[in-house]
Amino acid sequence: MATNGEIVVAVLAAGKGTRMRSTLPKVLHKLAGRSLVERVLDGLQGLSVARRLLIVGYGAEQVRQALVAEPGLEFVEQTEQKGTGHAIQQLLPHLEGFSGDLLVLNGDVPLLRPESLRTLLETHRASSATATLLTAHLPNAEGYGRVFCDGQNSVREIVEDRDCTAAQKQNRRVNAGVYCFSWPDLARVLPSLSTNNDQQEYYLTEVMNYLEPVVAVDIADPQEILGINDREQLAMAYQILQDRVKRHWMQAGVTFIDPDSSTIDDTVELAPDVVIEPQTHLRGKTCIGANCRIGPGSLVEDAQIGANTAVLYSVVRQAQLGADSQVGPFAHLRGNVVTGSHCRLGNFVELKNTTLGDHTNAAHLSYLGDATLGSRVNVGAGTITANYDGVRKHPTVVGDGSKLGSNTVLVAPLTLGESVTVAAGSVVTEDVADDALVVARSRQVVKPGWRPKSSPPPETP
Ligand code: UD1
Ligand code: CA
Repeated sequence: MATNGEIVVAVLAAGKGTRMRSTLPKVLHKLAGRSLVERVLDGLQGLSVARRLLIVGYGAEQVRQALVAEPGLEFVEQTEQKGTGHAIQQLLPHLEGFSGDLLVLNGDVPLLRPESLRTLLETHRASSATATLLTAHLPNAEGYGRVFCDGQNSVREIVEDRDCTAAQKQNRRVNAGVYCFSWPDLARVLPSLSTNNDQQEYYLTEVMNYLEPVVAVDIADPQEILGINDREQLAMAYQILQDRVKRHWMQAGVTFIDPDSSTIDDTVELAPDVVIEPQTHLRGKTCIGANCRIGPGSLVEDAQIGANTAVLYSVVRQAQLGADSQVGPFAHLRGNVVTGSHCRLGNFVELKNTTLGDHTNAAHLSYLGDATLGSRVNVGAGTITANYDGVRKHPTVVGDGSKLGSNTVLVAPLTLGESVTVAAGSVVTEDVADDALVVARSRQVVKPGWRPKSSPPPETP
């Protein structure tokens, strides 16, 4: 059948995912920060696709909400889930008159690479088959439909695992759940589906009995076709994704001291010569500059870190850190933290919604919240911004070159000018102009020869 070359994509995402034992629809379960269905849609990157239709049913509204940001995604409702064939039958009214190809993806197969889909489409076009499907040879084929061919790649039928005889189960060539159909041919046979199987559902795989010719394409990396039906497979997929991502970054010049002990989202970007120490977890939109050493024992999420910075036993979230800095051990930087270069944020220091200029240090035991510190500020050990009056948060500003003595309390709202020196132990409540010394504590009182009345008189020699 000649086609006009257009491709429409349908993603099967209406099932409950009973084997997940969850109230969350299966396709919304997260794999390294992104839902299964988002990952399936990611697999379409670089393909030229006319329309994308998502078949939803169980938790339809929730799935719709989760995908509002996907441009142009169309939702097709399958109110009762009577099988994958029944799901595709729901497309009939939506694709009337369409003469191109339909690419069908399972919403629970999240590791497919765009290259594999391209290979499928190219083979489909080159062979002018009515249907082409991705297959893989698995050592453990349990749970997958088995693909039976005449000769090498000409598909005769697909038999679901639960419908296989013992002899048929020996066939380890499995159906990935990824197909390209000539839509007019598929549309013609869709109404003939039966429920003549163990689950008494309408199986999409049954159409292989009616279409001719159908071609099977073996995928290069069988790990890509892993379908997620339960939590064990979700964990397996995570492992595969981790291996993939780490291999990618190692090839790009990143050292992992103990790869198995660290995790890294595939949204993270790493520059060459970054060293990831053990027990380190990098998440979200994190970007780490050249020669950084992260960990051991650190969590970095949605953070950008400049070159040559070290982060040791620390938590860094929603932060933008400058180059040539040292963070930790035991720093917690969270929520809109921006620091300049050559900063030292040390031992037991927490920063929240705070900006620091270059060469500014807070090396020991501090909390800085809602604060803006200039450059070359030294924050003495134990300095605290009292930013919260019990109702509202207030800002603190400290000018360039100021020195805050140990155990300073900055009671916000407060502005200290440039080159202000605060005496140790001060509780500063009023603004201070440039180049001033502020001592805000009571003067030391010494009473010579004084003893508590209750204590006995000194012994006479
Ligand atoms: C399916 C294939 C099997 C293949 C495997 C690959 C069929 C009959 N079997 O089996 O040959 O080896 O995928 O992973 O197609 N869904 C709906 N509506 C429904 C039922 C399911 O949208 O009524 C969706 C599910 O949400 C899921 C996908 O279709 O995303 C696959 O369904 P699932 O029940 O997981 O099929 P498998 O048993 O894995
Ligand atoms: Ca499945």
